[in-house]
Amino acid sequence: MSSYNYIIKYIIVGDSGVGKSCLLIQFTDKRFNAGRELTIGVEFGTRFISVDDKQIKLQIWDTAGQESFRSITQSYYRGAAGALLVYDISRRESFEHISSWLADVRRHANPHTTIVLVGNKSDLEESKRQVTYEEADRFAKENGIALFLEASAKSASNVEEVFVKTAEHVY
Ligand code: GTP
Ligand code: MG
Repeated sequence: MSSYNYIIKYIIVGDSGVGKSCLLIQFTDKRFNAGRELTIGVEFGTRFISVDDKQIKLQIWDTAGQESFRSITQSYYRGAAGALLVYDISRRESFEHISSWLADVRRHANPHTTIVLVGNKSDLEESKRQVTYEEADRFAKENGIALFLEASAKSASNVEEVFVKTAEHVY
């Protein structure tokens, strides 16, 4: 598809290993890679979706979670209409760091950026879970986050919803 009505830019942030790149690849290519490929700096993906009969081109910047890339990736926040903050429901620390990723987004994006919280790896067995749905939902509500979803890049559960609902909110 080559004609579209809007371009919306997203940025994906969160700790290294939470599954940001896997979420993007599941959304753009409908596949999951179990291997570990650290993102260096930023990667980029696109996909067309339709919202209210309008064709929207999503331009998605997937950032490296590793601390050493933080100053580089921050320069990509500007102009993002949507910011996806991702943590891993089986790694509590990655959830605790969300407030710092949120602060970065508020500092470097713009006041109208739609901020979405994503708890990834929802496919994992319940015994691996370290963050409850309720706790993250409360955090989202208390911090003015537009939307919270648990998702799985592996099973594809809620992946479409994360990207499309963000666009509906932006649009
Ligand atoms: P950085 O690029 O370093 O910031 O990491 P990242 O957030 O992009 O993580 P990445 O997508 O590379 O995924 C890290 C690891 O988690 C990989 O081994 C993936 O296979 C695994 N993973 C990603 N998403 C899921 C998921 O939904 N479920 C499960 N079980 N594993 C996942
Ligand atoms: Mg990555």
